[in-house]
Amino acid sequence: TQALTLPRLKMMKNQNKPIAMITAYDYPSAMLSEEAGVDMILVGDSLGNVVLGYDTTVPVKLEDMIYHTRAVVRGAPSTMIVTDMPFATYRIGPEATLRNAARIMQEGGAHAVKLEGGAELADEIRLLTSAGIPVLGHIGLTPQSVHQIGGYRVQGKSGEEAEKLLADAKALEEAGAFGIVLELVTEELAAAISRSIGIPTIGIGAGRGCDGQVLVYHDLIRYGSNIRDKKMVKSYANIGDTIRSAITEYVDDVRTKAFPEEKHSFPLGETSSAQGIT
Ligand code: KIV
Ligand code: NA
Repeated sequence: TQALTLPRLKMMKNQNKPIAMITAYDYPSAMLSEEAGVDMILVGDSLGNVVLGYDTTVPVKLEDMIYHTRAVVRGAPSTMIVTDMPFATYRIGPEATLRNAARIMQEGGAHAVKLEGGAELADEIRLLTSAGIPVLGHIGLTPQSVHQIGGYRVQGKSGEEAEKLLADAKALEEAGAFGIVLELVTEELAAAISRSIGIPTIGIGAGRGCDGQVLVYHDLIRYGSNIRDKKMVKSYANIGDTIRSAITEYVDDVRTKAFPEEKHSFPLGETSSAQGIT
């Protein structure tokens, strides 16, 4: 049973209680996030970048998202879990989109799905929500379209762009989305969108005016090499350095025969058993 429900999420917006969301991709990242008390977990297709080592999220497949969602659900059984629909598994007509979203829910165990895009997704979102599949929107910088956008740049700087994003946000709310991720948009626009709609906005690189925030797990703890070394990220730990020096020490211990020691070994005839190993 999840701690956070959709009605409660909306209440958080109305009561001005910020929503804390993080991505997770496997059992330990989900477990630690739940233990830390996050409100929601996103199984982001950013797993293509931070876990699988791709340059973009475009190569990520539906099966990848399902596989990782299952691990996250096992690690965080009491947290609301939203899973990204990956590249070209939606925008392919309401029926096919519904089939793919249903697989993420039924096979993966997610409680909701996230789709990148604006007003053009209204029909698909309407069908998903009518089938009982909660949808989180995502506008602003939409990484699945990076080849079309031509790079990662702040969205909504021109009046025309800002107006379109505001209209998209309203269309997503109208279509039944329960919230909207705003990625890499100006602080002014994100605040204006947040005030103009009744559903919560979750910002990443969208400033202080959103109803919640989301960060990528690996960015937050600096785990791995594919970190978004960007202005929008705050890193609260440097786990990558900790892991590298631990492994370096281990390699050194093996080469100098400092590990294993007697206490790690099993001499014949020893009666005590450590951790059930005999
Ligand atoms: O995939 C992801 O991690 C995301 C967040 C950045 C919102 O979509
Ligand atoms: Na994503």
